[in-house]
Amino acid sequence: MVAVAILAAGRGTRMKSQLPKVLHSLAGRTLIARVLDSSRLLSVQRRLVIVGYRGDWVKQSLSDYRDLEFVEQTQQLGTGHAIQQLLPHLRDFTGDLVVLNGDVPLLRPETIQQLMATHKACQNAATILTAQIPNPKGYGRVFCDQDNFLQHIVEDRDCTTAQRQNRRVNAGVYCFNWQQLARVLPQLQSENDQHEYYLTDACSLMHPVMAMDVEDYREIFGINDRKQLATAYDILQDRVKDDWMAQGVTLINPDSITIDDTVRIGSDVIIEPQTHLRGDTVIQSGSRIGPGSSIENSQIGENVTVLYSVVTDSAVKAGTRVGPYTHLRGHAEVGESCRVGNFVEIKNTKVGDRTNVAHLAYLGDAELGERVNIGAGTITANYDGVKKHRTAIGDRSKTGSNSVLVAPVTLGKDVTVAAGSVVTDDVGDDALVIARSRQVVKPGWRLQREEESK
Ligand code: UD1
Ligand code: CA
Repeated sequence: MVAVAILAAGRGTRMKSQLPKVLHSLAGRTLIARVLDSSRLLSVQRRLVIVGYRGDWVKQSLSDYRDLEFVEQTQQLGTGHAIQQLLPHLRDFTGDLVVLNGDVPLLRPETIQQLMATHKACQNAATILTAQIPNPKGYGRVFCDQDNFLQHIVEDRDCTTAQRQNRRVNAGVYCFNWQQLARVLPQLQSENDQHEYYLTDACSLMHPVMAMDVEDYREIFGINDRKQLATAYDILQDRVKDDWMAQGVTLINPDSITIDDTVRIGSDVIIEPQTHLRGDTVIQSGSRIGPGSSIENSQIGENVTVLYSVVTDSAVKAGTRVGPYTHLRGHAEVGESCRVGNFVEIKNTKVGDRTNVAHLAYLGDAELGERVNIGAGTITANYDGVKKHRTAIGDRSKTGSNSVLVAPVTLGKDVTVAAGSVVTDDVGDDALVIARSRQVVKPGWRLQREEESK
C-alpha cells in the first residue's frame, strides 16, 4: 500500500501575500495542484493534504480532485509536526508513505517513481531525494556516510560555516516506511533556530535511510518567495520548450516564446517569436503560429497560419489563414481553408469552409455558410442593449462594404448585400438587398445658395 501526503499548511511568509503560498500560480496551475499531479504515475491508495493557513481556500481550490483527504494542522509548528498530524488518520495503515513539499512544483513523476523503486529494492526505512546544486542557500544540507546512508540533515540556518559548504541538499521529497516513521514521530524535538519540529530530524532517527540524487537538479527547486516563483517559471519553460523541440517543433527565438505545459503541439509546427500558447490549446502539425500571437484554450488544425493575432476559447480548422491582427474569441469556430484577417473580430460565431472575412469586420453570435464573402466593414449588430441576437448567412452569400446586419436576421444562400446597407429583415435565397436611401444629387446647389443669400 502507498499513501501520499502533501505538506501545504504553511503560510509562506516570504511570499508577502494574503494567499497561502501553495495557491500561487505557476504557468496557469497552482503549486499544490502541480505537486499533486507529480504523484500521478504512482498507484496510490490514499492521498492526504495537510492544510492549515487558509485551509478552506486550499481545499476549495482542489475541489476537482477526487478522493483527497484533508488533515488539519491548526498551528504550524514545522514539517515534522505537520506529519505528526497524520498519526490518527493512518493508525491502521501499513505500507509506504510518500511525502511531498507543497512548494516543490517541478518534480517529474518519473523521479518519484525512481525514488520509490530504490526504496523498495534496498528495503530502506526511508529514502530521501537529494540534489547537488550550485547555490544551496536556504535548503537543508544532507550528510551521508561513504555508503550513501544518511547521517543527518541540517537546515541552512542551523548549519555551521563548514556545513554550509556542502552542496548536497534535501529536496523535501521522501519515501518512508510508515510504521517505522510513526514510531519515531513522537520523539521529535524543537531544539533548533526556528523552534520547530522538523521532519528531517525523523530521518536521523530511522535506519537505514538512503539518499538518492535526482538527475536534473532543477526539478527540486523550492519556492519560498516571488523571485523563486519567477525562476521556477523559467525552469518550466526551458523544459517544455526543450521537449517540444525534441519532438519536431521549430521554435524561432525560444526565449521570446512562452508555452504552458498543458499545450499539445504536432510535428513540423513552426512557432515564431513573441508567441504565447496557453491553457488547453492544441496546434496540429504543419501550422505556423506567430510572430506576435497569443493562443489560449483553442484548437488549431493542420497547416493553419496565425499571424499577429489573438485566439481565445476558439477553433480554427485546417488550411485557414488567420491575421494579421485578428481576434477570435468566445467560441469562434472557423472552418477549413478560410481567410480571416486585418482587423477582424469574431465571437461566438461559426464560419463555414472556404469563407473569407478579410478585413475590418465584427461577427458576433452568427453562423456563416461555406464560401461566404464578408466585405470590409461588415458588422453584425448583435446587441440591442438588453439581449444578444443571432445572424445567419447562407452559403455563397456576399456582403458589400460597410453593411450592418441587425440581428436577429437571416440571409439565405447566394444573397448579395449592397454596400452600405442596414439589413433589418430576413432575405431569401438569390436576392439582392439594398437597404439604404437612394443617392440624391442637386446640381448647382452651391451657386443657388449664394444667389439666395444676396
Ligand atoms: C524544507 C526542509 C529542507 C528542504 C526544503 C526543500 C524541513 C525542516 N526542511 O525547508 O530540509 O531543503 O524544505 O524545499 O523540512 N509546512 C507545513 N506545516 C508546517 C511547516 C511547513 O505544512 O508547520 C509546509 C509548507 O507549507 C511547505 C512545506 O511544508 O509547503 C515546506 O515548508 P518550508 O517552511 O518552506 O520549509 P523549508 O524551510 O523550505
Ligand atoms: Ca520551502
